[in-house]
Amino acid sequence: MSQAEDTQTVDEDGVIESVSGPVVTAADLDARMNDVVYVGDEGLMGEVIEIEGNLTTIQVYEETSGVGPGEPVENTGEPLSVDLGPGVLDAIYDGVQRPLDVLEEKMGTAFLDRGVDAPGIDFETEWEFTPTVEVGDAVEAGDVVGEVPETESITHRVMVPPDYEGGEVTATESGEFTVDETVVELDSGEEITMHQEWPVREARPAETKETPTIPLVSGQRILDGLFPIAKGGTAAIPGPFGSGKTVTQHQLAKWADADIVVYVGCGERGNEMTEVIEDFPELEDPQTGKPLMSRTCLIANTSNMPVAARESCIYTGITIAEYFRDMGYDVALMADSTSRWAEAMREISSRLEEMPGEEGYPAYLAASLSEFYERAGKFQLLNGDEGSVTAIGAVSPPGGDFSEPVTQNTLRIVKTFWALDADLAERRHFPSINWNESYSLYRQQLDPWFRENVAEDWPEVRQWAVDVLDEEAELQEIVQLVGKDALPEDQQLTLEVARYLREAWLQQNAFHDVDTYCDPKKTYRMLGAIRTFNDEAFEALDAGVPAEEIQDADALPRLNRMATAEEWNEYIDELESEIESQIRALY
Ligand SMILES: Nc1ncnc2c1ncn2[C@@H]1O[C@H](COP(=O)(O)OP(=O)(O)OP(=O)(O)O)[C@@H](O)[C@H]1O
Ligand SMILES: [Mg+2]
Repeated sequence: MSQAEDTQTVDEDGVIESVSGPVVTAADLDARMNDVVYVGDEGLMGEVIEIEGNLTTIQVYEETSGVGPGEPVENTGEPLSVDLGPGVLDAIYDGVQRPLDVLEEKMGTAFLDRGVDAPGIDFETEWEFTPTVEVGDAVEAGDVVGEVPETESITHRVMVPPDYEGGEVTATESGEFTVDETVVELDSGEEITMHQEWPVREARPAETKETPTIPLVSGQRILDGLFPIAKGGTAAIPGPFGSGKTVTQHQLAKWADADIVVYVGCGERGNEMTEVIEDFPELEDPQTGKPLMSRTCLIANTSNMPVAARESCIYTGITIAEYFRDMGYDVALMADSTSRWAEAMREISSRLEEMPGEEGYPAYLAASLSEFYERAGKFQLLNGDEGSVTAIGAVSPPGGDFSEPVTQNTLRIVKTFWALDADLAERRHFPSINWNESYSLYRQQLDPWFRENVAEDWPEVRQWAVDVLDEEAELQEIVQLVGKDALPEDQQLTLEVARYLREAWLQQNAFHDVDTYCDPKKTYRMLGAIRTFNDEAFEALDAGVPAEEIQDADALPRLNRMATAEEWNEYIDELESEIESQIRALY
């Protein structure tokens, strides 16, 4: 840029007063809150986060080293928005929706250069558009007007943008179009393209939020079996270092029966995200046999990427999720980890010298967390259809201490709590979800679905398992004092049943070909087999057989192999009848 132009920019726009890490203050900038601005000679992308008199404070989404006072700041006058349209699936973005592959191409190496602007979707690709409306049809905001085969698995529904007035269709045709070409014209003068923009900090509108009644089936026994989450529900996965937060999130991204997955890698180590970026494109969608990425969008802001873009990546993710929800899809969003997000807020807040709240987090921490989770839900959409966003956030409390502010504030909001446990992880009990501390407030409203689709007595069988595990927890305290042998025989048997519940049912190996996914029917039948042992054992005990003899029945250790059995129905049929006959033979 020449000197003359430079001066002109400064005159029209603002000029940098000071730079403090990701926070830049500019004078004389005519801006509104949340406007996107370009900062410095390099034009780094930033967002207005505070205005005080003549001074505007900006959080910058790129490294600010070398940027200094006197450099210009240019206002776009637009809020931070995402580009929505075909091309979002199968993409890998940074925290402000710049496609990583495009960045890499433009910059040579990822994440190093600055001032690179790249739209979230490709404006040159032509997509095959087929209208679902005809000339003369009346359409309103949110209505679907056409379809595009976006990926092998997902049909993209082109909608009247939420802020449109709507009207009667005056022209439309099928054919190949770029996202910015008009595909439907309305008598109101409005032109509909396949491209929408939406400000990330604002929830996309829907008609009403409804009570979710259908589970997001995860194929993970402890989740589906004990602590189910609803489609449209919220969950937190808090856990200490190395306890399995990321593996759990990956399992959900791979196996949960969501139509669309938005995976936000937020501030975690680069290698965890590299794994996702390398792993996911290779994976097959178990429901369709098609590439998993064809229904997935990845957002990566790793710990080595700028902190302000970490603050925004959560919003970018949830806005993309809402967009697919608006098409009537069930979307699952995973965020790993919301603690790193909160830390980004803390860092920016402290640079602003705001009054700190608990442990230095900003006073608005709770509000920000709840705003995020509030955007999840099962909704009746503007167009009368239904769609959902399920939000699942990992929480990484320092030292694994759940009493810290991020865990506590999250606990107050989410309705499913999957508490990971360092002791279990250390004992290699995976997933190391603590069954005494975890809970799901969706159980009751999901029961009718489980009764109808899995087994009529699902809730009762689950309650039986919960009771046995509760009793075990109580008995363990006594055992630690006096030893197991001091317990009466019936209690010894209960401990044995509980052991099988833990080892054969609750444990699940994410890395075993068969065990990695467990059909809810299999989850139910495995529980049934352990219950068969329980019932037979107590009858034998009543008939005078010593507990020790009952526990020695040959067939019992085979309960531990149910998890990896491929032909599980046959395997469990056979096992149950052997357990029955062997124990009955004792009296
Ligand atoms: N369901 C599982 N099946 C088998 N192994 C598991 C399972 N869950 C976790 N693990 C084991 O625990 C290790 C750590 O898990 P993970 O990386 O998910 O922990 P994390 O809580 O995300 O850790 P960090 O705090 O470092 O992010 C995994 O590499 C794996 O060996
Ligand atoms: Mg992790």
